[in-house]
Amino acid sequence: MKILVIGGAGYIGSHVARMLADNGNKVSIADNLSTGTEENLFSDYDFYKGDILDYPWLVSIMKHGFDAIVHLAAAKAAGESMIKPEKYATQNITGTINILNAACQAGISKIVFSSSAAIYGEPKYLPIDEAHSKEPTNFYGFTKLEIERLLEWYDKLRGIKFAALRYFNAAGYDIEGRVRGLEKNPANLVPVIMEVAAGMRSKLEIFGTDYPTPDGTGVRDYIHVTDLAQAHCKALNHLADARQSFAVNLGSEKGLSVLEILKAARRITGRPIPASIVERRPGDPAKLIASSCAAKQLLGWEAKYSDVDTIIATSWRVYEKHLA
Ligand code: UD1
Repeated sequence: MKILVIGGAGYIGSHVARMLADNGNKVSIADNLSTGTEENLFSDYDFYKGDILDYPWLVSIMKHGFDAIVHLAAAKAAGESMIKPEKYATQNITGTINILNAACQAGISKIVFSSSAAIYGEPKYLPIDEAHSKEPTNFYGFTKLEIERLLEWYDKLRGIKFAALRYFNAAGYDIEGRVRGLEKNPANLVPVIMEVAAGMRSKLEIFGTDYPTPDGTGVRDYIHVTDLAQAHCKALNHLADARQSFAVNLGSEKGLSVLEILKAARRITGRPIPASIVERRPGDPAKLIASSCAAKQLLGWEAKYSDVDTIIATSWRVYEKHLA
């Protein structure tokens, strides 16, 4: 297939693009390089630099003729979205409307969309399955939910078939060590810990130790980015074969606390990784764990690399090179 990966220079997009190309697809990347990096652009890709808010640019690149789009271009810091909702409304929602309209104009009818566990909000039960109520507690999650609803209407009215992949906490780096671009100003736990280990920031702030969890810190379902990339490949194949839209969770079905990740990172990196306890971060639930049964049944997908040691070791292999 000829595939346009929008946001393909970013953290998750770069892993997805690499695996799609490895599997024999012709990959083109569209990215504004605001959070993505040129280091993630491999020589076998075509690259179009531009912004999804630039509609004429989107229309012009889609003229190159693609069988499918993978759309990962978005702002993703849940905390920031509560302070800068305009940024998230525009980049995530307006940007996606532009992509959908340009895709319709170009006759592209398959799209894989990066959705998020953040659409569910505070869990009513665990593990969270796809039927769980959807009441996001942060504006980022709201933008992802709105886009899923838009996709449903574009399916009904324009015949666009979509896969909405609801990522839990993406972490780790390419199992084969090829993707090496660092995230710019990360806010997520694992890259923050890696930056501390590498001496790029002074300490980790632990956002609360008074949650109703075994060690008091937040528990999340960390899913290795190579597992996520695999799911995108399977989702595209399923869209091509079944021509039916779907939404699935992508998680490891296991929970890890902030302290468990920190402990593993200290052990694997051999670095002290200073940390201090601060207030809870607003909008953070205590515990999120996925049910990935639907992805297993529909796509034959399950997490293979999402144990804590693999997540930390593959991340450290990349960050170690930047030791201050
Ligand atoms: C959030 C979204 C998730 C989304 C992800 C994208 C929610 C509930 N979850 O994940 O769906 O895919 O953003 O970025 O909106 N932590 C610290 N110190 C730090 C950073 C994080 O203690 O410096 C803690 C957090 O409190 C949390 C855990 O580490 O318990 C993971 O946080 P993070 O990596 O930021 O991801 P989420 O907020 O869970």
